[in-house]
Amino acid sequence: MHWAGRAARRVLDDSREALASYIGADAASIIFTSGGTEANNLAIYGHLSRQQPGHTLVSAIEHPSVLQPCERWKEMGMQLEYVRPESDGVVDVEAFESRLTEDTRLVCLMAANNETGAVQPVQKLCEICRERGIPVLVDAVQALGKLPISIKDWGADFVSFSAHKIGGPKGVGALVMRRGMQVQELTPGGGQERRRRSGTENIPGVAGFAAALGEIDFQAFSPMRDSFERELCKTLEDASVFCREVERLPNTSMFCIPGMDSETLLMQLDLAGFAVASGSACSSGKHEPSHVLAAMGCSGEAARGSIRVSFGPGNTEEDAYALIEELARIRSRLQDMAGASLEE
Ligand SMILES: Cc1ncc(COP(=O)(O)O)c(C=O)c1O
Repeated sequence: MHWAGRAARRVLDDSREALASYIGADAASIIFTSGGTEANNLAIYGHLSRQQPGHTLVSAIEHPSVLQPCERWKEMGMQLEYVRPESDGVVDVEAFESRLTEDTRLVCLMAANNETGAVQPVQKLCEICRERGIPVLVDAVQALGKLPISIKDWGADFVSFSAHKIGGPKGVGALVMRRGMQVQELTPGGGQERRRRSGTENIPGVAGFAAALGEIDFQAFSPMRDSFERELCKTLEDASVFCREVERLPNTSMFCIPGMDSETLLMQLDLAGFAVASGSACSSGKHEPSHVLAAMGCSGEAARGSIRVSFGPGNTEEDAYALIEELARIRSRLQDMAGASLEE
């Protein structure tokens, strides 16, 4: 009721309005969360826990923050089925459609993949599921700011976002729910976010999220990404770029250098000052091949030598070429070392 509380409320309301108009949604449908992971968990747990036991259909290339909660539900008795993408990295809507059943309680498909950048046919899938009354979760964490998003056009039931993918603060995101959908709160408490996500709101985070909307022109990185890929394949002739033939995010490149191990490459690149990632799940400390590349049917060797690069503000074409030179240097150094140890 006091002035300080009202000032905080105004920041929250303005930020909600800003996000709503950016993504074409109603402000009331937005639940601010601690990030994309929480948004996905809230959609999956929050929705499924209000349903009868049944069947969940998920693309095999989802982020772990979708796959892991679904696996938990499987342990609790829910049927879980994965739909693999085609070898080009895009899922086939008909493959999804043919597996929908009377008991399907939720379908999950991301708008764009975080490893390959491949854009997925969410609009089409949402239309099909809508006709059959089956709810869809679209993880749009990677798509925000990089692809046109209109929640109303998609007609998705749940859509998740994260601020740090567009240059906003880490630790804040949002779940958008279609009108009429309901979720069981994961954090019962003081009833914030219309009783869908209790806990004092992260006002600085939410304000930072709103301030970041539209600030970075990601389309501007696509010529740099494309010339990087052209030069890479000229310099390292056996390198191959994943999902190059399909629509991708403008700033993402995932490629493999046969015979190389991505963990070794990442360490060497880090020493040379490059911050890039591999397709594998290194966060757990274990070096497992990428589940995305495996689902696309890539060989173990291709998956092991895969690197992903995200171009962002501050990167120049010179940086991109310097990365290629460094990759070539590392490879010839490692080949020399392997040759020397064979001679010994
Ligand atoms: C596709 C996708 N979904 C969800 C997440 C998780 O978002 P957050 O890091 O905000 O929890 C990420 C993060 O990399 C992502 O790429």
